[in-house]
Amino acid sequence: MAAEPAHLRPPPLDVARVRADFPILATQVHGHPLVYLDSAASSQRPWPVIRAVEAYETHSHANVHRGVHALSQAATAAFEGARERVRRFVNAQSVREIIFTRGTTEAINLVAQSYARPRLRAGDEILISALEHHADIVPWQLVCEATGAVLKVAPINRRGELEFEAFERLLSPRTRLVGMAHVSNALGTVLPVKRIVEAAHAAGAVVLIDGAQAVPHLNVDLRALGADFYAFSAHKLYGPTGIGVLYGREALLEAMPPWQGGGDMIRTVSFEKSTWNELPYKFEAGTPNISGAVGLAAALDYIEGLGLPAIAAHEDALLKRATAELQALPDIELVGTAAHKASVLSFTMKGVHPHDLGTILDAEGVAIRTGHHCAMPVMTFFGIPATARASFACYNDEADIAALVKALRRAREVFG
Ligand code: ALA
Repeated sequence: MAAEPAHLRPPPLDVARVRADFPILATQVHGHPLVYLDSAASSQRPWPVIRAVEAYETHSHANVHRGVHALSQAATAAFEGARERVRRFVNAQSVREIIFTRGTTEAINLVAQSYARPRLRAGDEILISALEHHADIVPWQLVCEATGAVLKVAPINRRGELEFEAFERLLSPRTRLVGMAHVSNALGTVLPVKRIVEAAHAAGAVVLIDGAQAVPHLNVDLRALGADFYAFSAHKLYGPTGIGVLYGREALLEAMPPWQGGGDMIRTVSFEKSTWNELPYKFEAGTPNISGAVGLAAALDYIEGLGLPAIAAHEDALLKRATAELQALPDIELVGTAAHKASVLSFTMKGVHPHDLGTILDAEGVAIRTGHHCAMPVMTFFGIPATARASFACYNDEADIAALVKALRRAREVFG
């Protein structure tokens, strides 16, 4: 493919400046400077996010939607402002479509329990891919157990790509719901979500996309994508833990019953009958994570300040370089070699359990994740118990890759 003309390329990230925004990167680990290559598990937070949360906690905290007093109104404005910030970030039609949850997992469970469980009947089918995280498998298994519906799994190939034609063949009038990752957390594969949504809709199925690993790296335009539900977490987006988002198409959310009862989600309550609040509050029972929402909004400002195209280009260059360097090392095998990947490099070292490898790397200050990455079926497919996984974010640089390679060489020496 011809290289993109220079005038269309985003200006490169000033990585030194970006790194200075993340105070944790100055940490020493076992006497070495921290090399953080575990952002797919949780990314670090920049000063603007830390300071936004601190300012909210210091000056504006009270409960939301409940008080006429000034602080409650300030907190409500901050919380609802964050919802509007999220809406803009993913280009949703309305803030009524943006539900705050504890994270991606809770968002998918909400759809499973409130959309799928009341509608599905014995013989109906839910179709997922063999790449899914447990959070996009187990909630559907619970629905299948409760309803008699059947979970179908579209296969992947040895590169870790969805077999699209096999996926299409599995779609049928029985398929009521399709659940797919946008980006595989275990392998980094970017799935063709637009084509998935179109094919699923043509078969009459509703589509949920697990976007946890996509939103930090790819521009997500939900109006263009057309998915019915889309879930993601703040903590992989340089924001706080304990808050995430479920986007749902308004007509679908309107028709769904609440899934948790309590304060804020009601309009009226009597002992005989209660009625529900309007969207999005119908799905937000109890006091929400207000400071988390404030932090998420600050994280989205930060990302847009850097520019997602610039972040994506930077991470892609790091991924390509790390892939080439690891391929050149003896005894390293890459797991997941899809043509289109984002920010994740999974691998094994011959004769060394990934956990032992992770321990040696940690001793050198290099933080990677090891294990099944909450995607045990992916490991089963490749016939391995676990992988070592390095993942990249806007603050990583070539020195991080050099440190990874050096630590891997050291591990090879230790294990012989
Ligand atoms: N799902 C997160 C990961 O991939 C925790 O590491």
